[in-house]
Amino acid sequence: MKSVGIDAIEIWTGNLELDLAETFAPAMGEDPGKYTKGLGLLRSSFPDAYEDIVTMGANAAHRLMERKGLEPDDIGRIDVATESAFDNSKPVSTYIAGCLEEVLDGDFHHANKGERKFACVAGTQSVDDAYNWIRAGRNRGRSALVVATDTALYARGDPGEATQGAGAVAMLVSEDPDLVELSAEQGYGSADETDFLKPNQQFPSVDGKRSVQVYLARMREALEDFESVAGAIHPDDFELIPFHTPFPGMVRKAALLGFRHAIRDTEIEDELAAEIGRQPRREEVESDEAYLDAIKEYTDKLKDTQAYLDWYEDTIEPTLAIAREVGNWYTGSVHVARASGLWQLAKEGHDLTGKRLLVGSYGSGAQAEIHAETIQPGWREEIEALEIESRLEDRYSLTFEEYEHVHDVHNHDKETEAEEFTTPDSEFAFDGWGRMGERKYRYVE
Ligand code: CAA
Repeated sequence: MKSVGIDAIEIWTGNLELDLAETFAPAMGEDPGKYTKGLGLLRSSFPDAYEDIVTMGANAAHRLMERKGLEPDDIGRIDVATESAFDNSKPVSTYIAGCLEEVLDGDFHHANKGERKFACVAGTQSVDDAYNWIRAGRNRGRSALVVATDTALYARGDPGEATQGAGAVAMLVSEDPDLVELSAEQGYGSADETDFLKPNQQFPSVDGKRSVQVYLARMREALEDFESVAGAIHPDDFELIPFHTPFPGMVRKAALLGFRHAIRDTEIEDELAAEIGRQPRREEVESDEAYLDAIKEYTDKLKDTQAYLDWYEDTIEPTLAIAREVGNWYTGSVHVARASGLWQLAKEGHDLTGKRLLVGSYGSGAQAEIHAETIQPGWREEIEALEIESRLEDRYSLTFEEYEHVHDVHNHDKETEAEEFTTPDSEFAFDGWGRMGERKYRYVE
């Protein structure tokens, strides 16, 4: 069977940042701990006036192609996943291809281009599409370029405002990949839900508390579905578990439930029994209500055990390092989490070749997907090629007034004179509107 997976990855953050504890919390009259401890976020990334989903996506893709020494002829499809698209007909991938053609030799005239929509899970769905295309033998030796790009902005005053972010992840999906091989096994949890949606509007309508519950419910279904094809999982099976990360506090909730599920009927449950008892089983109690109370009590105790804390520190915490600095990137978020985990473990000198990841993607509306990945021999070189630290450090730090201005500039319902806080440097920039309402771009040396 062909080995197919992610060969290379590049991450492009918006050029601005907002400090949530120092700048946002005081202006909102909130305790900084709500953001840093509760949500688990330190800073959010924002796009400068000349940045949008096209510039960020094209910049990430350009860096990836240059680093891998690729020409347009090497790419057989370009898929963009986004929930921030500005056109109901012309896909963002055509804009990104146009940008790349400005700076690369050759063109993408024989690449199949599209745009994927299912909230944040669309990034993973696009990777899937690429995987299936290669496994079907339709790629003619070429790779797929997948770009997950979003400006995750909420209406001012919405509780989601604290979780905003902007950035793009470009991934090359190929045969014999250098970074991770994808498992053929997948699990899905999917249902018609009204938790977070954008009915032809720029900013989302969100039922925040419900969205958290829907995330957990669909993720649980996806895990059970995954186990039905791949077999029961054990916490020690996976080196890292990157989840979709709207904010790290969400992953804290999901990870605890996942751990509880995975230790059932294992030696870990047995070893913990003296300390916190065994997990309640539905058949042992009279009613659903009594079961829910009992399982909640067990989960509260499990959260404080050393076994859980150690597993969380090793397997989950490394995946959250970048999210804490950038906020939610919607379609890119789970792919940022994978890169973050590998980056942290590379810095600590781990040898991960042959080790496995379990990846939990989620999109509101709602669908979760779970699959496994096997880390490939080229992983360290790939991850060390990312300049994550310097890109995060180079962001311009906004005052609260500047943040308000930036939000207005990107608000489609407002006419705001755009002030730029940074100067584009070796990157694509928005260059105004064309006669048919199309957006125009130029590469700034
Ligand atoms: N110190 C420490 N912790 C504090 C604190 C303080 N001073 N103040 C509050 N907290 C804690 C709270 O206890 C809470 O933690 P728990 O959930 O563990 O109890 C956490 O900080 C957040 O506080 P609130 O619940 O009061 O925050 P909120 O109601 O203002 O907003 C939210 C939370 C509803 C999730 C909101 O951020 C939101 O609507 N976000 C957008 C929707 C979202 O991201 N949903 C996630 C699932 S959907 C998804 O994943 C798709 C997607 O990308 C959007």
